Amino acid sequence: MPPFDVPVPDGVFAETVTEVEHFTDRLFRFRLTRPASFRFRSGEFVMIGLPPRSAEDKPVWRAYSVASPAWDETVEFYSIKVPGGPLTEHLQKIQKNDIVWMRKKSTGTLVLDALLPGKRLWMISTGTGFAPFASLIRDPESYEKFDQLIVTHTCRNTAELAYSVQTVSATLNDPLVGELAQDRLHLVTTTTREESPFMGRITTLIQNKQLFDHLGVSPLDREHDRVMICGSMDMLKDVKSIVEDLGFIEGANSSPGEYVVERAFVD
Ligand code: A2P
Repeated sequence: MPPFDVPVPDGVFAETVTEVEHFTDRLFRFRLTRPASFRFRSGEFVMIGLPPRSAEDKPVWRAYSVASPAWDETVEFYSIKVPGGPLTEHLQKIQKNDIVWMRKKSTGTLVLDALLPGKRLWMISTGTGFAPFASLIRDPESYEKFDQLIVTHTCRNTAELAYSVQTVSATLNDPLVGELAQDRLHLVTTTTREESPFMGRITTLIQNKQLFDHLGVSPLDREHDRVMICGSMDMLKDVKSIVEDLGFIEGANSSPGEYVVERAFVD
């Protein structure tokens, strides 16, 4: 990134890129150094931006879920690359040692505090909506609060599933949470536009019960299940209406409930 000397605004951390991994021409992940004072709850998001490259350049901020766990020494983010996207057009070009801006305050509704106690935690995601769950599945508190964690990730094709497959596998082998996650963390991946062992939109698979048959578990029930949903606007609307038809009540930080939703941010 060309250096242009601008002061870092109040309330913003300027962090160094430590790692970048591209999965497809639409998806990548990156890691930043973590300021000692940065605290967040698993599942929350922060605003990310790039330092201006010229005097005319105005920073563009977009919300990114923190994909790494709270105990990690660095912070990870998972991003789409949108051609011509005001932020991602530039962000996709970052390299090790570049500077990325991150606002100091994190927030969001996909947090354990927004859910009432339950037995199974379902984390339903499409596309980059998997990101907050990458943090939650590595948080020991998720395993204290729930017996089973079931993450679903649906993408257009298999290549787009790489991040969830890799993260869940790393979690199962992690020295801190691997043991907790054994036999209790389950990932279900499905594709909609490319042949794969399990195909279909998650909405269809919930409605025709194939999701539960595939896992060999009982269908969603309001008494024992809690649901977190993250994906595109349309997906949120459709999954929300399915769980509401089953009687699930939406939760928030101020009043915990049976399900919570958050949009996966897109450009
Ligand atoms: P589809 O291929 O049938 O559109 P995207 O990459 O566009 O964000 O989509 C990610 C995944 O979300 C795709 O597999 C897509 O399926 C799926 N999807 C899109 N809209 C919905 C919806 N309303 N309900 C459930 N899944 C959806």
